[in-house]
Amino acid sequence: MSNVSYSAPPGIRYVQYESSKEAEYVPKIRQLISKDLSEPYSIYVYRYFLYQWGNLCFMAMDDKDNLAGVVVSKLEPHRGGPLRGYIAMLATKESYRGNGIATALVRMALDAMIARNADEVALETEETNSAAMKLYERLGFLRSKKLHRYYLNGNSAYRLVLYLKEGVGMIPTYDPYADLPPSAEPLVDIEKNNPNQ
Ligand SMILES: CC(C)(COP(=O)(O)OP(=O)(O)OC[C@H]1O[C@@H](n2cnc3c(N)ncnc32)[C@H](O)[C@@H]1OP(=O)(O)O)[C@@H](O)C(=O)NCCC(=O)NCCS
Repeated sequence: MSNVSYSAPPGIRYVQYESSKEAEYVPKIRQLISKDLSEPYSIYVYRYFLYQWGNLCFMAMDDKDNLAGVVVSKLEPHRGGPLRGYIAMLATKESYRGNGIATALVRMALDAMIARNADEVALETEETNSAAMKLYERLGFLRSKKLHRYYLNGNSAYRLVLYLKEGVGMIPTYDPYADLPPSAEPLVDIEKNNPNQ
């Protein structure tokens, strides 16, 4: 984060999540994220992401140390194929929206994934969420699938994918629910178990 600059509105600074500050950060993150969710996450979901991939979580803090924005993500091989980043949560506090904060946070997460050799990045967003769709498509994400009635409220979603390397879309993956080749370890597709955004 130190040698790349990310645009920040006045009074906002960007910080990476630190596990030593869990007691301060996690309640703030939960409060900000849960405001915009139709399906609130349990504390275990936050812990799942932040324990393993705290270095892929970035926050925007205002001058009173209030949380103005956050992105939470992870990075792991996808079904035995490409190394896939996944943006799990993204939110900017309402009063700070439209200032480029979420764009900067997503770019930080993407750069941290690229530094760890990610092949691609995926996420889901509600089809009616025009701010999020615009933000991700401007960063180069493509619509890869429409997920009908993906959310509990009945709304559909788009799976968006950003390919970071040439030919990544062609890397074969295994379907964990199909017969596995004898040499393969069983795989669990955690995305299927994630509560929705
Ligand atoms: C989506 C969200 C994170 C964007 O945060 P932000 O800090 O305002 O984002 P940015 O300022 O970086 O960019 C937002 C872009 O969307 C545009 N935008 C904002 N509201 C919009 C709307 N209602 N319709 C269309 N575009 C909109 C902005 O103009 C900006 O594009 P521009 O730079 O071309 O003008 C924020 O609206 C939010 O927290 N929403 C609720 C949670 C959520 O939906 N998260 C995403 C889940 S995938």
